[in-house]
Amino acid sequence: MQERLLELQEEALQKVTAASELKELNEVRVAYLGKKGPITEVLRGMGKLSAEERPKIGALANEVREAIATEIEQKQKALETAAVNAKLATETIDVTLPGRPVNKGNLHPLTRVVEEIEDLFIGMGYTVAEGPEVESDYYNFEALNLPKSHPARDMQDSFYITEEILMRTHTSPVQARTMKKHKGQGPVKIICPGKVYRRDNDDATHSHQFQQIEGLVIDENISMSDLKGTLDVFAKKVFGQDREIRLRPSFFPFTEPSVEVDISCKICGGKGCSVCKQTGWIEVLGAGIVHPNVLEMAGFDSKKYSGFAFGMGVERIAMLKYGVDDIRHFYTNDVRFLKQFNHHEA
Ligand code: DAH
Repeated sequence: MQERLLELQEEALQKVTAASELKELNEVRVAYLGKKGPITEVLRGMGKLSAEERPKIGALANEVREAIATEIEQKQKALETAAVNAKLATETIDVTLPGRPVNKGNLHPLTRVVEEIEDLFIGMGYTVAEGPEVESDYYNFEALNLPKSHPARDMQDSFYITEEILMRTHTSPVQARTMKKHKGQGPVKIICPGKVYRRDNDDATHSHQFQQIEGLVIDENISMSDLKGTLDVFAKKVFGQDREIRLRPSFFPFTEPSVEVDISCKICGGKGCSVCKQTGWIEVLGAGIVHPNVLEMAGFDSKKYSGFAFGMGVERIAMLKYGVDDIRHFYTNDVRFLKQFNHHEA
């Protein structure tokens, strides 16, 4: 019986050593120390032993049981530690690995231009005004001295929605709306950026939808020299300190006199090149002294007040500023085009 116990001990310890998983180890525990295990069996047969032998075998059986249990316990700890270490090893994060780049967006070039121009005029005391893109015939034309039969309406082919409602063809109606709000009281100093719509065929320089920025100043004693001084500041800020401007006589129904404003060509410095069509000058906007009819229709006394106004195409300014040769680049959202404006400083 003694031998049998020592044999069992030997056998069990070998199995403990061989166990490579907790599950296996548990099987060993159940097999050798469980109620139906061989040690229990040996102990059951103790009744047949003599009174002398019984305590010896009993003590030995307990020792064997103890030895196996201790060994199992140690092995269990070792297996658990190994399992934790293995898990840690597979879940290791290498904090020195470079991060995955996050694609950062940037402002659309047209937004940049609008914001830059807004900032400039805000700095000169203007406020930003807005108006609806779906506009009445009255504000888009009539209030700007363009009565129904006026031939100059043809200058701007319009998208009409009804007889009286259309997509605004320019940002100039915001002038009339703002003046109305002021109820005949100056001064008015606003800049209005916004989308406008015309029945044009899209090509490299035309788009049926584009953006404009309108400017309007009304006060006592406003003259052409105020307009020229303001636009000179604008040209130098947006296109560079060495730019010059020139005013050419033109016609707009809402201004009298009206001018077209040119900026000296940046590419050739005014000598003449293909961009300025050999003239040394590039046309950038329309402007003029607010027509007395426009003032009066909006409730301003044209004897007391005078004003200047101007309107420019944002795409055109952006094309000249950044050297973009096709207006459609602004709308097709090719990221290769758009991301070029990432760090572009004015
Ligand atoms: N509204 C004109 C256009 O779209 C631009 C313009 C010209 C606006 C002269 C003005 C101005 O305010 O005074 O062609």
